[in-house]
Amino acid sequence: NKRVKIKTILDQNPIGSELTIMGWVRTKRSNKNVTFIAMNDGSVITNYQVVADPNLISEDVLKKCSTGACLKITGTVVESQGSGQASELNAISIEVLGEADPEKYPLQPKKHSLEFLREIAHLRMRTNTFGAVFRVRHALAFAVHQYFNNKGFFYIHTPIITASDAEGAGETFKVTTLDIANPPRTEEGAVDFKQDFFEREANLTVSGQLEGELAAMALSEIYTFGPTFRAENSNTTRHLAEFWMIEPEMAFYDAEDNADLAEDFLKYLIQYALENCMEDLKFLESRLLDEEKSKPADQRSELGLIDKLKFVLENEFVRITYTEAIEILKRSKPNQKKKFQYLIEEWGADLQSEHERYLVEKHFKKPVILTDYPKEIKSFYMRQNEDGKTVAAMDILFPGIGEIVGGSQREERMDVLLKRMEEMNIPTEEMWWFLDTRRFGSTPHAGFGLGFERMVQFVTGMGNIRDVIAFPRTPGNAEF
Ligand code: 4AD
Ligand code: MG
Repeated sequence: NKRVKIKTILDQNPIGSELTIMGWVRTKRSNKNVTFIAMNDGSVITNYQVVADPNLISEDVLKKCSTGACLKITGTVVESQGSGQASELNAISIEVLGEADPEKYPLQPKKHSLEFLREIAHLRMRTNTFGAVFRVRHALAFAVHQYFNNKGFFYIHTPIITASDAEGAGETFKVTTLDIANPPRTEEGAVDFKQDFFEREANLTVSGQLEGELAAMALSEIYTFGPTFRAENSNTTRHLAEFWMIEPEMAFYDAEDNADLAEDFLKYLIQYALENCMEDLKFLESRLLDEEKSKPADQRSELGLIDKLKFVLENEFVRITYTEAIEILKRSKPNQKKKFQYLIEEWGADLQSEHERYLVEKHFKKPVILTDYPKEIKSFYMRQNEDGKTVAAMDILFPGIGEIVGGSQREERMDVLLKRMEEMNIPTEEMWWFLDTRRFGSTPHAGFGLGFERMVQFVTGMGNIRDVIAFPRTPGNAEF
């Protein structure tokens, strides 16, 4: 008998067929006459009920069918007597593929806290919550490629190892093969990177944007989707040291085209999840409701997860400039409880997450596209506006998340770009390859970066970014 996935059985309801399933035991209940085994193979959130008759299946085998064990079960699909499911499997034979000692297996059939599950990230995918999260994550990743493919964008694989620091924030992880305890030295005593593998200093990429720009200057519309690395303080619920970013880059787009694309893209991803992941979303919504019950009434969210997703789909994002946002923040009343101080004193200050949350969650109650930030708080490559003070930057802020997208129209004018790089102490000689795009056939272009995990967080409602990536990399955490 060929293996059939539980999802296939649920979809096709093949009453009367004899077939084989393989998967892991979630729970087992027995009485004198019968043993019920709830099986899960990850294809779907539902645990499939197997009915085992102790006259057919030996006591020794049934004993080994404990939570966590891996089984191969052949049986007949019959209509289910109990509620819930259309069918169940009457076992003809059970083979124990891998036992799981109940004394030692860390996952018991009860609720475990997310904190506890983070400690056993190698096993947590076997829970309903993480099964749902990773199926939704997969669906979103697939939808990313589908969206851009439909639009005729080309997927470019930009390098993971590079010598550039695209964001210029100096938060890179170094890549070296030198013996760090005893590196080769130049005559002056400095570390001699000429003897390193790449014959220079190198690091893990913080963004594929600069290479993406090179590609857009040839293929017009491209995107990257790869891991990026930042050695910043990532001890928050929104930061990882290793995260995945989607970065479209488009020749001939201006700032408005860029914002239109970003809004359309985010809505497409949400729509895709609603159309393809409803069972998992319903489960995630119910676990959020449980979580909310333990919160004080005024901190509970007004909408359930699915309604929240639909709300974002059905409403236009608010588009305002940084300057307008500052005016709103200045007018806002400081929070009575002093928990948040929304007031911002000065034009020019970077927005803190409480400012972003005020705009999105309290003031507009909608996703916000914030544009035209002061040039001092943004990267060198952003296009300068006529006012000489602001750049054509764009951040998209989401409720519960804050910044989910960062992007801009790029500075395509060689003289303006060179001047800005010099002002910001960016070595122009080292960036000759980047500047060549402005030297030869330059054109207006734009792009943005979507933090994939923040998007998965928004769609799944998971509060901590560590719970939407299989093996989170955060300070002090790189074991497996
Ligand atoms: O705003 P950022 O730094 O922009 C860039 O890297 C540009 N080069 C993108 C572009 O224009 N092509 O990062 C983009 C997004 C953020 O909005 C956020 O969603 C996510 O990446 N992000 C992180 N996600 C998780 N952990 C971190 N440490 C993140 N840093 C940024
Ligand atoms: Mg940003």
